[in-house]
Amino acid sequence: MERENRMSLLEQLVVQAHTDFAAATDAAALENAKAKYLGKTGQITEQMKGLGKLDPDQRKLQGAVINAAKEQIEAALIARRDALADAQMQARLNAEAIDVTLPGRGRSVGGIHPVMRTWERVEQIFASIGFDVADGPEIETDWTNFTALNSPENHPARSMQDTFYIDGADNEGKPLLLRTHTSPMQVRYARMHAPPIKVIAPGRTYRVDSDATHSPMFHQVEGLWIAEDISFADLKGVYLAFVKAFFETDDLQVRFRPSYFPFTEPSAEIDIAFGSGPLKGRWLEVSGAGQVHPTVVRNMGLDPEKYIGFAFGSGLERLTMLRYGINDLRLFYEGDLRFLKQFN
Ligand code: PHE
Repeated sequence: MERENRMSLLEQLVVQAHTDFAAATDAAALENAKAKYLGKTGQITEQMKGLGKLDPDQRKLQGAVINAAKEQIEAALIARRDALADAQMQARLNAEAIDVTLPGRGRSVGGIHPVMRTWERVEQIFASIGFDVADGPEIETDWTNFTALNSPENHPARSMQDTFYIDGADNEGKPLLLRTHTSPMQVRYARMHAPPIKVIAPGRTYRVDSDATHSPMFHQVEGLWIAEDISFADLKGVYLAFVKAFFETDDLQVRFRPSYFPFTEPSAEIDIAFGSGPLKGRWLEVSGAGQVHPTVVRNMGLDPEKYIGFAFGSGLERLTMLRYGINDLRLFYEGDLRFLKQFN
């Protein structure tokens, strides 16, 4: 009778241990539950201690029964430990789940802006025919942008409507401005280099102007060749070689149309006409040019009796629009990737 009671007590302990272990939802709770049965004062341990009071036969029998219960509780403990570890791992996997079927985010590849590509090509082509490349300030003085270039005080380009003036003044108290063209680089460069002078100066320029073919900020490339014997014929030869290389065709004509600039005399507009393609046969203006005015040569610190040469100034946007058949200059500055991606 006593033995049966003890057996049922052990059976109860096994059932209770299962329930307690199942109720433990983390490792710490499970270790507490374990102590209740298998710890130093745990119920199974207490049962073991009681064996000493039994006679050898009973002790052997009862010992085996307690051991069997202990083994079942230990097995339940291990099973629960494994289950908790699995659950923890599963929770982590869920939390850190990566949907490998999603398309990759990738990395977008940058591209060069079409006007910058023109800038680079212009530098390459002129470098290949012996021109240096120079860089100059975008904030200019009244003298370099206008006076040194023989622009009269009443020239419309000097008005507030045409030019961005900025706060501040130069040494002579004259206003500073955002350069309206790259021509001031003619004077800056020539004053720092001995002839022969053969240079291009590409860069940003600014005018109070905004429509489909004008932008307040745009780009020009200035060309200057000064020596003892440089003529209009050299200008024509150099410019024709340039446009042929730039537009990658020999099927192209160049025309010089009389024009006026204060800093050149004579002055011309350079037009080109393609022999084929969508623009075939139309004269298209690409540049202002001329023989450098003697007053400008003097302002370069050179003797106009000895030195002569030509200058030109071409719009980089204009060249880019003709090369790619673009008819609205504002597309260059809207940052629309659908437009810009077409050039890369
Ligand atoms: N600077 C002139 C312009 O912006 C272009 C030019 C440059 C003309 C050099 C003649 C010589 O229109």
